[in-house]
Amino acid sequence: MPKRLYIETVGCQMNMLDSELVVATLRKAGYQLVDHPRQADTILFNTCSVRQHAEDKIYSALGRLKHAKEHHPDKIIGVMGCMAQKDQRLIFERAPFVDLVVGPGQLHQIPQLLDKIAAGAGPQLEVSLDRKSGSRDEVQQSFESYDPLRDPQMRPNRYQAYVRIMIGCDKFCTYCIVPRVRGPEQSRPAAHIEAEVRRLVDEGCREVTLLGQTVNSYQHHDGGRTWRLADLLDRLHTIDGLDRLRFVTNYPRDMDDDLLTAVRDLSKVMPYLHVPAQSGSDRILHRMKRGYTVAEYRDMLARIREIVPEAAVTSDFIVGFCGETEDDFRQTVELVRQGRFKNSFIFKYSPRPNTKAYERLDDDVPEEVKRRRNNELLAVQNAISEELNRPLIGHEVEVLVEGPSKAARKQGVDVEAVEGHVVQLTGRTPCDRIVVFDGTPRQIGQLVSVRIYDVNGFTLFGSVVTQHAGPEVFQLQV
Ligand code: 5AD
Ligand code: SF4
Repeated sequence: MPKRLYIETVGCQMNMLDSELVVATLRKAGYQLVDHPRQADTILFNTCSVRQHAEDKIYSALGRLKHAKEHHPDKIIGVMGCMAQKDQRLIFERAPFVDLVVGPGQLHQIPQLLDKIAAGAGPQLEVSLDRKSGSRDEVQQSFESYDPLRDPQMRPNRYQAYVRIMIGCDKFCTYCIVPRVRGPEQSRPAAHIEAEVRRLVDEGCREVTLLGQTVNSYQHHDGGRTWRLADLLDRLHTIDGLDRLRFVTNYPRDMDDDLLTAVRDLSKVMPYLHVPAQSGSDRILHRMKRGYTVAEYRDMLARIREIVPEAAVTSDFIVGFCGETEDDFRQTVELVRQGRFKNSFIFKYSPRPNTKAYERLDDDVPEEVKRRRNNELLAVQNAISEELNRPLIGHEVEVLVEGPSKAARKQGVDVEAVEGHVVQLTGRTPCDRIVVFDGTPRQIGQLVSVRIYDVNGFTLFGSVVTQHAGPEVFQLQV
């Protein structure tokens, strides 16, 4: 009988990719994926440590399984990913019924570890070295890049895929846990990345998003040559059958003109740049150790707008960081007003043990002030997002169709059952705007032209004009 696996994933795209890879490996080992923990004999949580809230959610989900484990002691419960690396043995202390704790650098060991547990070997813990507990080489080796063969059935749709081009981070922003839990920055060889993308395209994938914590810091030395992100994009651009390339997340200081020129000149590279600013105050940026001033960030924005004027830029901001005054916050509001971001992700500062900010700075902005600043900044950004979307009304945009819209999925639409009928679909424009429109399931995975008739800050609404005739027919790159 196949073993039944349930997996719950929180956090960033890197975690979604890790879950896809773990599930694909376990399916090859005879596991079958189920939709509810109740049906499963193995339950895995892929976790995030970036904010306390994400951890609290996992610990309470674990708490809810205590009872199930008492009644079914053979159920295997595992915690993988960033929180596993951060909390290690503490997870067994807080949730003694957990069987498995695996850091992001050991995911390839999961099948063997599950076998060991099933054979009665007891709880298993596999994590990487802490960043200070060995030489850079030793620590680096303890974070093993995990990029096995892909399984298109494990992705939300087989037309889009993430591809990791680097792991880890060396920037050490003072608030951030990522360099500790994801280890030193290491770029993958361009040839490996190309082989993976080619394989995905052979399997029907049309859009690839390259992933890295600081993706534009990508750098790999190979046979006397240094490959940067611009070179890699140039290389991947030649792959026939691939229509769209994206890359996230960018580090402002590494946004050089070569990369922007590549985005401008390579038609498959989508004009979409996620470049977190984090704050609009120099004093706060300095405390965050971000490595740039607001003026430098604005200069970078100006270069983007000069070289790739059609590009949509998105950002992240943290409000209520240690010592943030009302004046600092006003400067952030000003940057959001002037930055004209397509959208921004806004977070309340959450102190993370073992970071510089946690050790050296006071978390002195009260929760209600953080909340107010969060809401205010969000309102400013939402108004801008809608303002930027409004001129698109009446225009045609190119959409890669992803599948049924959220509403259609909620209604339980089964696209296979309604083949040929009209369903509400969703997809994205080159600039990563979400579009909702009526279409047929046959259009899923196709590039279609959609005329927009309404917008809000988050979504464009439209109707299909034609089946795709080639990107050259679209007047607007939006
Ligand atoms: N508290 C709040 N937000 C954080 N981020 C990273 N660390 C923290 C933290 N300790 C945010 C940053 C980053 C995004 C992924 O999460 O804005 O860009
Ligand atoms: Fe965290 Fe800064 Fe690295 Fe981004 S660049 S992952 S915010 S340390």
